[in-house]
Amino acid sequence: MKITNDIVYVGVNDRELDLFEAHFTVPNGMAYNSYVILDDKIAVMDSVAEGFGDEWLKKLAEATGGRAPDYLIVQHMEPDHSANIAAFAALYPDAVIVSSSRSFTMMKNFYGDDFAGRRIEAADGKTLSLGRHTLRFISAPMVHWPEVTMTFDETDRVLFSADAFGKFGTLDIDEDWACEARRYYFGIVGKFGGQVARVLDRIEGLGVTAICPLHGPYITDNIGYYTGLYRIWSSYGVESEGVTIAYTSVYGHTKKVAERLAEVLKEKGCPKVAMQDLVRDDTAEAVEDAFRYGKLVLATTTYYGDIFPPMKEFIDHLVFRGYKGRRIGFIENGSWFPQAAGVMKKLLADCKDIDYCKTAVRIVSAPDAGTEAQIEALADELLG
Ligand code: FEO
Repeated sequence: MKITNDIVYVGVNDRELDLFEAHFTVPNGMAYNSYVILDDKIAVMDSVAEGFGDEWLKKLAEATGGRAPDYLIVQHMEPDHSANIAAFAALYPDAVIVSSSRSFTMMKNFYGDDFAGRRIEAADGKTLSLGRHTLRFISAPMVHWPEVTMTFDETDRVLFSADAFGKFGTLDIDEDWACEARRYYFGIVGKFGGQVARVLDRIEGLGVTAICPLHGPYITDNIGYYTGLYRIWSSYGVESEGVTIAYTSVYGHTKKVAERLAEVLKEKGCPKVAMQDLVRDDTAEAVEDAFRYGKLVLATTTYYGDIFPPMKEFIDHLVFRGYKGRRIGFIENGSWFPQAAGVMKKLLADCKDIDYCKTAVRIVSAPDAGTEAQIEALADELLG
């Protein structure tokens, strides 16, 4: 698969993986991307995950026509990309490993070798000439680990973006990019919006014509659409109008009220209501929706003076990722003494610029004659 005349895709698809990074469900698998730049010198961009080394090295040999690569550029040391550095280095003993100084420390820690004597440090702004192609390194700490370096091919104007602009799913799956790219972004780099925004500032104006991430499809047209979404996501901005209702329900009463609220919101013209059962649905989807829409309703039960544990975990995901700038409403249930709304608000205390709805729907075991009016009032506040 050619990206430009000189840049060829040599990555692999993992269709067997159940959990990416040991906790993200990947129903459509995962791609570990690697690229090769063919010039007077040959540069390989990253390796692939464990178990795919033979397939990757075979593809690499086919792409180079048997020529030995001169450089392996390691942009990110997480093992889904770095697991085959040693195999590459053994097969091509004259090749030089190019990476950030922090990466070489990680190589030693992960694989017992920091390639002293056959390495080049890819410091920020430094260039590497392959002949016709000049590569410029862009340090991108915390997108997604501290050692991350992106690489800009100044000749073909291709950005090798490491984990940024990645997506869950193998490359042979035909699906909407934004849905699984958004779940990936908020799950994996969502905590580091500031750092992502700083890199976007640096790449803006470079005249990028293609983006080659380490996961998901390489992007060769409509670059502004993808960078535009990354601008929104990294600034914690609202992408779409709508309300996410994230709920837990032990005996179905809280769920019933959450569903009724969804109906009322739709009747009142809300363009989108995203329902997430925090026990049964994918937590990463719920996190993604919470960041996508501008309004969030949290509905849960009081649980021994605290709240139902899956809701506690969900709120922790939001706080951890710097959730901010949203309107939040509560639905609380409790058979002894409902106090879940207060507990949830306390857990969200570190979130900035939150506009809390005055109405918190209160259920005492089951909805009663007064519940509908509270739902109406909450819906009006959410849409007001
Ligand atoms: Fe795809 Fe952060 O590794």
